[in-house]
Amino acid sequence: MRRKLLPALYNLKAHGLLPEEFAIIGVARQEIAQEDFRRQKSSDIHQFATTRVEESLWAPLAESLGYLQGDFADPATYQRLAKMLRELEQTRSTAGNVLFYLAVPPEMFSVIVRQLGASGLVRQEGGAWRRVIIEKPFGRDLETARALNGEIASVLKEDQIYRIDHYLGKETVQNILVFRFANGLLEPIWNRRYIDHVQIIVAETIGVEGRGAYYDKAGVLRDVIQNHMFQLLSLVAMEPPISFEAEAVRDEKVKVLRAIRPMRPEEVLQRTVRGQYGDGFVDARKAPAYRREPNVSPNSTTETYAALKLDVENWRWAGVPFYLRSGKRLARRDTEIVIHFRRPPLLLFEQTAVERIEANRLILQIQPDEGIELRVKAKKPGPSIQLVTVNLDFSYRDFGETTAATGYESLLYDSMIGDTTLFHRYDMVEAAWRIATPILDVWSSIPPRDFPNYPAGSWGPAAADQLVEQDGRRWWTPGE
Ligand code: BG6
Repeated sequence: MRRKLLPALYNLKAHGLLPEEFAIIGVARQEIAQEDFRRQKSSDIHQFATTRVEESLWAPLAESLGYLQGDFADPATYQRLAKMLRELEQTRSTAGNVLFYLAVPPEMFSVIVRQLGASGLVRQEGGAWRRVIIEKPFGRDLETARALNGEIASVLKEDQIYRIDHYLGKETVQNILVFRFANGLLEPIWNRRYIDHVQIIVAETIGVEGRGAYYDKAGVLRDVIQNHMFQLLSLVAMEPPISFEAEAVRDEKVKVLRAIRPMRPEEVLQRTVRGQYGDGFVDARKAPAYRREPNVSPNSTTETYAALKLDVENWRWAGVPFYLRSGKRLARRDTEIVIHFRRPPLLLFEQTAVERIEANRLILQIQPDEGIELRVKAKKPGPSIQLVTVNLDFSYRDFGETTAATGYESLLYDSMIGDTTLFHRYDMVEAAWRIATPILDVWSSIPPRDFPNYPAGSWGPAAADQLVEQDGRRWWTPGE
């Protein structure tokens, strides 16, 4: 709420995208007076806003803040909430539209949804809408995700459920679709005939940042790969949707996930590598080993790094491996998708010093710098033939003044206007767990013996290199 949602709401206000008829009610267990709640949020916004806070914009937002103390499992909380919402309909003309945002521990998701159902708060009457945003993690594996989907579906219709993934709010992530489907030149080469393989990397320099208790039960596969990275993969690999309508886009995304064959147990150790960081240096500062982070078990076998090789078994992608890797405490913060094209069929420069031609690469940079780069070959000026790699690139900075955002702005806005395109549908969540669960099962039955196996500040365990080298390829290093 402090770091992301409040600054995002402020940014929406600054862009004129919040209606006048708007109010926020915070609900939590803590006893706090309305006035103190507002004061606390005012100090939060000044600390966490992504832009300078204009008092003229913040004041009306602050004035619309209310607070309700209550236990999430207690029906009385919901009765009091219903009363406050009815009052807001009068005082702020909210027309009965309500968005419930569950920024709560995951074990509370079904408790709250059940209570919202029992209290009648999610009944949509007289043209008003009632929607629920659910944060991740959505389940721990296929079975728990299915159970959670089932419980929620017994109260809410699918179009009332917004399973949020902040990666899909990132500008360049949304741009993948535009880039692919608004440029006629890409589609003919976007397939196995021209693409050799695809790499997706989400590298972080941070450790677990005080979230040890959560992270030690999760690990990178659950925390980042099953959701954010599989979403990136599906945007890159999906077929053109029949329209840009939410269901048309989500239909195609889920098909990609379904086309990834879950690994058989004996394949898991050949196609995946896991790692955990030990002591090291990140940005020239000492970084303690994962096992020494607060609230992490000193014998933890949780993976903070993973690399996977996935096959998308459909006509477009058969034989094109997708290599994914992500880790905490790596050498550099970078999220990139790199499309490696095939090499030219013939080396025409035999009489020259050119021995080998690197393949073309298309790099979709997601963060920290947002942009797109195409690496092509050109002749180095001079009398002899020498090739150099040149970049055809575009950076979001070229748009000039772009406002810093949290990534939640477009997602919050979409949930208010009822656009579910960028949210996970129930079947997408299950399809993603279908891929991740067999890997998690093998990993938990064969505990790693070599953890920690990479120093903080490196590019991960050496075994990950073999994963690509055994296929005659190598990892793309961000910034190369
Ligand atoms: C979150 C994970 O979903 O994504 C974190 O829980 C991770 O562990 C974060 O650090 C990465 O997001 P971003 O936007 O910083 O790349």
